[in-house]
Amino acid sequence: MSQSCFQRDCFLDDTPVPPMIKVLFVCTGNICRSPTAEGVFRHLAQKAGREAAYEVDSAGTDAGFHAGDPPDPRSVSVAAAHGISLAGQKARRVRGFDFDDFDRIYAMDSSHYQALEAFKPAGARARVEMFLPGAEVPDPWYGGDEGFDHVFRLIEAGVHRIFEALEQERT
Ligand code: 4NP
Repeated sequence: MSQSCFQRDCFLDDTPVPPMIKVLFVCTGNICRSPTAEGVFRHLAQKAGREAAYEVDSAGTDAGFHAGDPPDPRSVSVAAAHGISLAGQKARRVRGFDFDDFDRIYAMDSSHYQALEAFKPAGARARVEMFLPGAEVPDPWYGGDEGFDHVFRLIEAGVHRIFEALEQERT
């Protein structure tokens, strides 16, 4: 008698599901740089058919004034001009729990890096890295529209580098 295909051994294999990588981008206010990085990363992962492999979020070291706010309209419009939506994002402050919840936390500039390293609990899961190794993504908030264009380009390049490196790690 042939084996039924509904017997467990017939159709189950125990290949583990690769774990999701959780990525957090951090700036000061969580309304300009880090929401842009979040939007660009989502866009790239989606284009590559890899959105299920990542959880992406962003936060601010000092989002107190902006908590709950949507991204700055200047960031929204530069991102939109590049086909990227920042819709649905809301500013929040970095939480202690983020250090255990995320695998990687990317600091937009060295002040964020220092703040994150100072608050990172001993033994936390997250690895804190500079978004652009050896370089800063400058704060565009007080400047004009050209600053937002410049920052978008830096962020686009940084996210491509990070996405490719994370994809490499998984293969
Ligand atoms: P972000 O830009 O850190 O890229 O979101 C800023 C937004 C607001 C402030 C500073 C930076 N602020 O001082 O309110």
